[in-house]
Parts: sequence; C-alpha cells; structure tokens
Amino acid sequence: MFQSASHAGPHSVGPSSVVVASRKSDVPPLSQDPEAHRKWLVEELERTRARLLQADRLATLGTIAASVGHELNNVAAVLTHTATFIRMRADAGKLPEPDDLVALDRGVAHLAEHARNLLHLGTPSQDRHEVLDVTTVIADVLSMLHVSGRTKRVSIMTQAPPSPVRVAMSRTKLEQIFVNLVTNAADAVMEQPPEGRLIRIEVSENRETGRAHCLVEDAGTGIAPEILARVFETYFTTKPSGKGTGLGLSVVKSLIEAVGGDIEIESELGKGTAVRFDLPLCT
Ligand SMILES: Nc1ncnc2c1ncn2[C@@H]1O[C@H](COP(=O)(O)OP(=O)(O)OP(=O)(O)O)[C@@H](O)[C@H]1O
Ligand SMILES: [Mg+2]
Repeated sequence: MFQSASHAGPHSVGPSSVVVASRKSDVPPLSQDPEAHRKWLVEELERTRARLLQADRLATLGTIAASVGHELNNVAAVLTHTATFIRMRADAGKLPEPDDLVALDRGVAHLAEHARNLLHLGTPSQDRHEVLDVTTVIADVLSMLHVSGRTKRVSIMTQAPPSPVRVAMSRTKLEQIFVNLVTNAADAVMEQPPEGRLIRIEVSENRETGRAHCLVEDAGTGIAPEILARVFETYFTTKPSGKGTGLGLSVVKSLIEAVGGDIEIESELGKGTAVRFDLPLCT
C-alpha cells in the first residue's frame, strides 16, 4: 500500500526567517519605583510585539517573493525554449509551430498575472476567475512543458471524459498546479530507464458531490515515508541546489485550498507516486 501525506501545514523555515535583534533601549531602568518598572515592562512588551509583527510580515513577504520567483522561473524556461524554436524555424524560412504559439501566449499571460498579483499584494484577491475545462488546460500545459523540454523524453497519457469538466478559477493558477505536479513527476521518472518513464493524468467528475477529481501519477522513484511527511513544507526539497527550491508543492497546496479544493499524495519507494486533488465543479 502507498503511504500518504496530506494537509501538512507550510512552515516558514527557509531564507525568509528573520532574527529579532535586541537593542540598547531594552535595558530596564535602574529604578526602585515599582510603578515606573511596571510602566517600562508594559512598554517593552508593546515594543517586542511590534518587532515580532514586523519580523512576521517580512518572513511572509519573503515566502511570497520566493513563490512568485519560483513560478516566474518556470515561465522563463518555457519562454526561452519557445523563442529558440521560433528563431530556428524562422532561420529555416518556416512559420512557428502552433504549439510554440500556445506556449508563448500562455507564458506571457502567466507573467502578466504574476505582475498583477504583485501590484495588488495585500489587497483582496484580484484573480480573474473563468469557467475552465480542466482537460483543455491540461493539454495546454503539456504542450508548454513539451516545448520547454521538461517532458521531452517522458511518455504521458491523459484520460478524461469526452464532455468538459468545468471548474471556475484563474486559468494561470490551474496551469501552475499542473506545471508543478507534472514537472515533479517528470523529474521522478527521469531516474528510470527510458521504457519506465511513464506519467498518467486522469480527470473525472462527480456531479452528485459537485467535485472535479484530478490525478497525476508517475512510475518514478517514489517517496520514502519520512520524506512524504514533509513534502508540502515550504522550502523542503531533496533535489540538488539549482534544481529544486522546495516551493512547488507548497504553492500547489495553497492554490488548491484557496478555491476550496483538497490534495493528498500517496507514494511507495521504488514504485511511484500518485497526487490526487479535487476542486469544486462549476455548476
Ligand atoms: N512525483 C514525485 N516523485 C518523487 N518525489 C517527489 C514527487 N513530487 C515531490 N517529490 C518530493 O517532494 C519534494 C518537494 O517537492 P516540491 O515540488 O515542493 O519541490 P522541488 O520539486 O524539490 O523543487 P521545486 O518544485 O521548487 O523546483 C521533492 O524534492 C521530492 O523529494
Ligand atoms: Mg517541484
């Protein structure tokens, strides 16, 4: 049986942690007057509270900045590869492939949405919710990832019902979810011989419960139980530096939960990993 992990809360344990330094004014007054001492204690408590609040805000900002940087990195990889392919075809007197144009289009839309979110940081969500067909979004993501070279030597099978599975959310965010999950799956299967590099994506819906169900399953390395318990932690990674930042799954989890969804991961070392999540169906 697969071990499973779900709902491990994100912890801010990375570079965003902030040290609260002590200052000269923290020294209590040399006074025998109990009232003056009490007053100093109350004020000191207030100063400490304000410093902690500031440190907490900085830590939160650090985590947000790192998450946005992580997603921009994904987009940069797609855009760099797409530009190279388009230039190569242009040099040979050929028009761009339709897939390259989709990747270009979606990459630029991601940049614009990240910029908009940063501009409106601290204000209520400015997400542009659309009614989306999950199957179409997956097809666009697979085409983007293929163009970026991340899934080139991997075999990916998608199973979905013939009719659209509709959810209402930001297109960029649903794409981010699949980009991260498929990238993780691709990294895991690349450790296997070429014939074992299999990823399966499945979408289904349950109209009675009003949920869309998604699965990204791979036949990759699998995850040891002690690692599985930590995969949703912010900055938790087992990948070498420069390859992984440990932000992918924590971003995915917060995007899914923000729209009322749930995510869980099952895995068995040496066999593979299955990530299941559900989202409210659009009625
Ligand atoms: N499909 C998978 N198969 C095996 N291990 C996985 C899989 N998905 C996640 N993991 C494990 O969970 C860890 C955390 O994943 P996460 O996506 O958050 O970060 P990352 O992939 O290491 O880095 P990043 O996504 O920021 O580039 C990974 O380092 C890996 O150990
Ligand atoms: Mg990842």
